Amino acid sequence: MSNSAAPPSPSPSVQPGHVAIVMDGNGRWAQKRWLPRVAGHKQGVEALRRVVKACIERGVPVLSVFAFSSENWNRPVEEVSGLMDLLVMALSREVPSLRDNGVQLHFPGDRSGLSVRVVQGLEAAERDTAHNRTLVLNVCFNYGGRWDVTQAARRLVQQGRDITEANLSSAMALAHVADPDLLIRTGGELRISNFLLWQSAYTELVFTECLWPDFDAAELDRALAEFANRERRFGQTAEQRVEENPLMVAAGQQHA
Ligand code: IPE
Ligand code: IPE
Ligand code: MG
Repeated sequence: MSNSAAPPSPSPSVQPGHVAIVMDGNGRWAQKRWLPRVAGHKQGVEALRRVVKACIERGVPVLSVFAFSSENWNRPVEEVSGLMDLLVMALSREVPSLRDNGVQLHFPGDRSGLSVRVVQGLEAAERDTAHNRTLVLNVCFNYGGRWDVTQAARRLVQQGRDITEANLSSAMALAHVADPDLLIRTGGELRISNFLLWQSAYTELVFTECLWPDFDAAELDRALAEFANRERRFGQTAEQRVEENPLMVAAGQQHA
């Protein structure tokens, strides 16, 4: 390989293998329209349906979305119960078509804080879609990055296993997928809010002002284009990346 290799050039064809989204801005979307906040969450389900379809069409194999955080219990009780009702309703409405479209559902998160009705719905949806291979959809519900690290460490201790990076990764709630390549946060806030803390160590972050209920395929394409223009270095120099893997330098490939 020549030492005079050009710096990595952005390649719009580079796709992330795993996209994660903090679906934020539902409440503001509703408030702007003088609607109750839960109306924004309902529209948020529509946006998720659009984005799942767009991911399948674009060949993105893994999508992880943040639907309810460990800290969202601190919201007004009627909003929390509205979100629980919406989850149960969305499961019964959406799972049949997700199953028929090849989506494998997972609900990473702390089940111990959820009602029997909700847990049964999550388990049934996971069971009914386990055979699918087109898109793995992780709907993180009652999830927190700190909860995930803690439960993984506790599990290793119970099993008498060493606390190593590899063992912790294998005990995390998203051990069935590779780390996210791209994390999108809608709604304009510039923070992670306790989402995939462990898994996002080398994830590319894209923030957009777009409120989640307004998010669509065009917004997804903007984020994918921004991702394709990033240079991921994983701690190395740009020159090392070019020499070791000239076809993979622009973005989107797993840390080998
Ligand atoms: C995100 O939208 C959905 C959940 C946290 C459940 P928000 O409800 O946080 O919307 P904003 O940020 O108040 O607009
Ligand atoms: C993050 O949004 C959680 C979800 C999208 C589920 P929040 O609205 O809860 O985040 P903060 O409170 O603004 O940080
Ligand atoms: Mg919010």
